[in-house]
Amino acid sequence: MKPIVFATNNSHKLSEIRAILGAQFSIKSLSDIGCHADIPETADTLEGNALQKARYVFEHYHTACFADDTGLEVTALKGAPGVHTARYAYPDRQDTEANTDRLLRELQGKADRSARFRTVIAYIDNNGEEHLFDGIVEGHITTERRGIEGFGYDPVFAPNDTGRTFAQMGVTAKNNISHRARAVAKLCDFLNKHQ
Ligand code: IMP
Repeated sequence: MKPIVFATNNSHKLSEIRAILGAQFSIKSLSDIGCHADIPETADTLEGNALQKARYVFEHYHTACFADDTGLEVTALKGAPGVHTARYAYPDRQDTEANTDRLLRELQGKADRSARFRTVIAYIDNNGEEHLFDGIVEGHITTERRGIEGFGYDPVFAPNDTGRTFAQMGVTAKNNISHRARAVAKLCDFLNKHQ
């Protein structure tokens, strides 16, 4: 089984990916391959950031690899926070509570609260060919926090037709429909056809 490197050290993401791909593929993290660099994410699109991280790994380790990037795109905010989702409140650090507060503030008085989570995965195969996959879940931003599960913006993001926020759904139900799960499913299909 040829290893594929997932350009992350986020243990939550790793176990999620291994649960989906682990039976057929050997998924290695950055620390598994001895990479402790803080890989730059300076592009101005999700695609650009995912490619930047995957290219870094391919150029330094010459192995098949993939990286992901996720953004919350809010219609009334013209697609913001988008590529700035992790650092929406403060440009230099991730503060989940402050990010959510800012989002609720920006949407005060706005009738259109529709939004979507979008994940992009960039995969580079052993020949250096690049492939992009995305996963989208449409929904809306609630007017206040609801639920305690999950992370990030989960308490204020309600996927369409569920009547609940991600934070009220529980991890298993969320992972059935989430943006990340949908992007990973496309990667999985691709790998099954091409490996
Ligand atoms: P990343 O690219 O996966 O690190 O995601 C960037 C940011 O998007 C995170 O810091 C979170 O704030 C937010 N985010 C990504 N996925 C989710 C999710 O499933 N629920 C809530 N917030 C998320």
